[in-house]
Amino acid sequence: MNEARVDLQEKIRQGRVTVAIIGLGYVGLPLAVGFARAGVRVRGIDVNLDRVARINAGVSHIPDVPTEVLAPLVAAGTLRADTEFQQCAGADAAVICVPTPFNRMKAPDLSYIEAASRSLAPHVAPGALVVLQSTTYPGTTEELVRPILEATGRQVGRDYLLAFSPERIDPGNQHFSAHNTPKVVGGVDEASREAAAALFGILVSPEQIHRVSSPRVAEMCKLLENIFRSVNIALVNELAKLCDRMHIDIWEVVDAAATKPFGFMPFYPGPGVGGHCIPVDPYYLSWKAREFDFYTKFIELAAEVNSSMPFYTANKIADALNRQAKPLRGAKILILGAAFKRDIDDPRNSPAVELMRILLSRGAEVGYHDPFVSEVHLDEEPRPFVSPVSRLRSMPLGEGLLAAQDCVCLAVAHSAFDVPWLLKHSRLILDATGVTRRFPADGGTVIRL
Ligand SMILES: NC(=O)c1ccc[n+]([C@@H]2O[C@H](COP(=O)([O-])OP(=O)(O)OC[C@H]3O[C@@H](n4cnc5c(N)ncnc54)[C@H](O)[C@@H]3O)[C@@H](O)[C@H]2O)c1
Repeated sequence: MNEARVDLQEKIRQGRVTVAIIGLGYVGLPLAVGFARAGVRVRGIDVNLDRVARINAGVSHIPDVPTEVLAPLVAAGTLRADTEFQQCAGADAAVICVPTPFNRMKAPDLSYIEAASRSLAPHVAPGALVVLQSTTYPGTTEELVRPILEATGRQVGRDYLLAFSPERIDPGNQHFSAHNTPKVVGGVDEASREAAAALFGILVSPEQIHRVSSPRVAEMCKLLENIFRSVNIALVNELAKLCDRMHIDIWEVVDAAATKPFGFMPFYPGPGVGGHCIPVDPYYLSWKAREFDFYTKFIELAAEVNSSMPFYTANKIADALNRQAKPLRGAKILILGAAFKRDIDDPRNSPAVELMRILLSRGAEVGYHDPFVSEVHLDEEPRPFVSPVSRLRSMPLGEGLLAAQDCVCLAVAHSAFDVPWLLKHSRLILDATGVTRRFPADGGTVIRL
């Protein structure tokens, strides 16, 4: 095995390595492109036939991966996608980037990792490295992935290498991407850790590789990062509710506190948390913690506060209408933004979409506009409240549309939104993003969260 390890590292040094990326979504495709741009031969595997066909046609489905960057890599044969796992047989390394959602009861759904590991297992080449990169609870690499890979008779350390390395991609972030964000690696043994360090050393400089003692530490590290955000966002959301009652502008408070050059990091309130990470990953840990008779109170409290925010926002809209002697039922409300955060096209677990569901279930006439999200589905899973419509399409934004609204709610601060223009043409704006604080009010009423 030592020879295989040296061989892998030597191959990496010589640029002769082939890497398989399993799952070509928001995480996998940028990673595949990062390796391919570094001259590595990449074989991407995804069960989604459409996705694979588009990638092989050189067309990107991920905004952070421009088609102009993807197309030449595909044309040169450096990057190819497939639905068949046989196509990654012989790869020197395989990185698993499949989804880790939760189920209706907010328990981890590891079926994607399980399925991907099962499909990959027969094709792991002797001495190859397998890295799990999906966010999950501590123990997954060793307790779930390892037994599946070893059911084929292989043994880690003797026949193959196994590590965990968390993904830190921040979609839409213009400053940090896969090539300049430090990478944490934890292997089940030293050889696995060093192989993973060498593999990701293709993407980032050696100083940006941070080694930890085990996959569990690396898995926990990612959860700490996300729980840190969840808890701090919850703190400021709770203070936003208090400030509202005390007639203090929370945005002004956070901006003021942020002038402190040490010991403070600004977090801002909003209509809730969304996406694939912040509202999901903390539950992975609270679920696993129960196995140890441990109850993660901060995680639960943060989830409680953050998941109350779409309801709080809906109530703020109802209050604002009430002040104008209008009921919420029958009111025309336009939601600006459907993505889970600014300047991205991803509406997964978006609080803006949750807000639409709540307002619709309370009888409002809801429409939305988002330059990046053309359609949202409101019936994806059963909710405690029932939305009378199952999907909405983004409406073209114009003066006429704004003028026809009883209330416009800024739910996402996309930089494409022309805020002074919105202020000029809207009668009533509920700003859940704080973006209007940088502009003078212009005619209509503006209420901030
Ligand atoms: N999106 C983010 O910003 C982000 C950031 C950090 C970590 N993560 C984590 O990375 C992981 C992947 O997230 P994502 O946003 O890229 O998900 P995604 O849904 O965008 O992509 C996952 C891809 O995996 C494919 N897939 C599903 N099952 C498969 C299987 N058995 N074999 C092969 N392919 C399969 C899907 O078709 C899809 O294309 C998750 O664990 C997530 O929590 C995501």
